[in-house]
Amino acid sequence: MDGELIIKDLRVAIDDKEILKGVNLTVRKGEVHAIMGPNGSGKSTLAYALMGHPKYRVTSGDIVLNGQSILELGPEQRARLGLFLAFQYPTAVPGVSLGNFMRLAVNSVRTGHEGNGGKKPLSVSEFQKLMREKMEILKMDRSFASRYVNDGFSGGEKKRAEILQMALLEPQIAILDETDSGLDIDALRIVSEGVNRLAGPDVGIMVITHYQRILNYIKPQFVHVLAQGQLIRSGGPELALALEEKGYDWLLKEAGLLKS
Ligand SMILES: Nc1ncnc2c1ncn2[C@@H]1O[C@H](COP(=O)(O)OP(=O)(O)OP(=O)(O)O)[C@@H](O)[C@H]1O
Ligand SMILES: [Mg+2]
Repeated sequence: MDGELIIKDLRVAIDDKEILKGVNLTVRKGEVHAIMGPNGSGKSTLAYALMGHPKYRVTSGDIVLNGQSILELGPEQRARLGLFLAFQYPTAVPGVSLGNFMRLAVNSVRTGHEGNGGKKPLSVSEFQKLMREKMEILKMDRSFASRYVNDGFSGGEKKRAEILQMALLEPQIAILDETDSGLDIDALRIVSEGVNRLAGPDVGIMVITHYQRILNYIKPQFVHVLAQGQLIRSGGPELALALEEKGYDWLLKEAGLLKS
């Protein structure tokens, strides 16, 4: 099926340490899933493994996008097929302006994307128009386009730049790893509204977060708890509220993961 990401009994190791111990999850277009869970439980590992980071080794299971296993594909090919990851810790690229970086990324994905009806690369002026439009939605100052990627950006500015990239790439499945951390109250609202404007029937979204707060804006239909490399509970938005109130211990206990 188009616009469907299936994670099948996924096991992932870093060096020789197994981090994900059999994760099953399906994200379809039009759906918003929140992934929550204690520090170190494997949330970012899941995100990196989905994007194909070489350090995160899939030892068994499968990742299927639109009916095709993507395990053998590199990060760039996965991006071309419509996967997008906003990093928890975006890196700086000194010497490359945000505008040029984004244009290269967008055109690389557009021209390499087989399922998009053969979109043509955007000219510089077409791209600038599109970028300005999206920057307005995210209330980013135009001057950002000529600054070096993430170089000296504040924490919140980096997050906005990530969402800008998502807006420009128009992915089918977007994974947002702690996009809310480090955002001030207004920025959280603006970024969330930006995500919501991109969300819709054609996009599936996976939001990794520690706090219920962002979920007031980006409303998930599904909330999952990852602990010690396993999904130990799935539910609706009420699960996030329960976690906010009670923490994780009760769930860990029920899953037999808490030694007491
Ligand atoms: N590059 C690495 N080398 C060694 N261990 C790693 C590496 N990356 C992650 N780990 C370990 O894998 C486990 C899961 O880490 P991960 O970053 O996926 O957790 P997380 O759920 O995203 O946590 P947080 O909520 O703090 O962001 C942790 O024990 C971490 O120390
Ligand atoms: Mg993390």
